[in-house]
Amino acid sequence: MARSFPQRWPERPFSLITTTSHHVYAPSLPSTHHAVRVARLMALTHNTIFRAFNAIYAQAGVVDPSKTKDVADFMTFATFAIAFLDNHHQCEENIFFPMLEAQSGTPGLMTHNVEQHRAFDVPLHALRRYVDEVKSGAARLDAAALRARIQDLAVPLEQHLHDEIPSLLELSGKLSEEAIMTCYKALHDEAEGTTDPFRIGPLVLGCQDSTLPVDGEKIQFPELPFRLVPYLVDHIVSRRYAGAWRFCPSTFHGQPRETAFFEFGKSEASTRRKSSASRDEILMQAALDSGIARAKRRFLVDRLATPVFVLMLLFSLYLAVVQYAADLHLPTREQAWAWVNSKLL
Ligand SMILES: [Fe+2]
Repeated sequence: MARSFPQRWPERPFSLITTTSHHVYAPSLPSTHHAVRVARLMALTHNTIFRAFNAIYAQAGVVDPSKTKDVADFMTFATFAIAFLDNHHQCEENIFFPMLEAQSGTPGLMTHNVEQHRAFDVPLHALRRYVDEVKSGAARLDAAALRARIQDLAVPLEQHLHDEIPSLLELSGKLSEEAIMTCYKALHDEAEGTTDPFRIGPLVLGCQDSTLPVDGEKIQFPELPFRLVPYLVDHIVSRRYAGAWRFCPSTFHGQPRETAFFEFGKSEASTRRKSSASRDEILMQAALDSGIARAKRRFLVDRLATPVFVLMLLFSLYLAVVQYAADLHLPTREQAWAWVNSKLL
């Protein structure tokens, strides 16, 4: 599917999912059917995994192995990406697949998916071990070695994450819409309950691309309880592992972005030359490339976001206190002063 967004991260070695192909695999299903909805949400979850690993692959050649902080942060990002992938498949195997099989009365219904999980156990373990070795100092970061391990993982993992989507569409013939949604909700709740929000929240938000439609539609993902969540993650939650999130391919608001280690349309060599520049220098260079107007906007947004957010928070607090006082029927300031004056005069 052609995309209108001209600047994007390379889809290498993982190709993103842009369609569930429900018109091919389940042509009789309306697009509002819960099986289609679950297939789309799963495609977006899988794209999150793809973007995280593509970001590691793209930036591997630019992180300077002699810069201890950069290497440590990069390996932290890689560790969180691997943990997200691990947790996703554990929740599927422990909760989602058994529930689908029980609800449909079809033992073995999801066996093929589990077999595909086993097909990438070995390369995933090799990648995890290499990342651990670099973290502990037992191995020096080597771009070729890291990329080779991701490439070994890429074939079976990409195959599985693409294949799983039609297998979810086929559930429509065996389970009711409500049962499909109940099983998916159980998967979602289990994944949420078994992960650290300080690790997974920024990772998931920082690996979205809101410009990429699935089945021709821009779908909000992840589904958030309220719109303030990306701001909370941006200004509060992300602070604990702030260094790792420098490697996120997108902002926490789903916009693909340039990082200190990757620039749209630039060769790896030119990105490497810039990797030691400060954040302000990188922002300024990117802005000069695309015009002064864009420069002003980016600098303003960068500097105003935090004070505006704090002011919004203080204003909300003020409104809450006023409302609380009104609920308690406390006197207003004017009423209090009138009472004081009546006593004094
Ligand atoms: Fe999945």
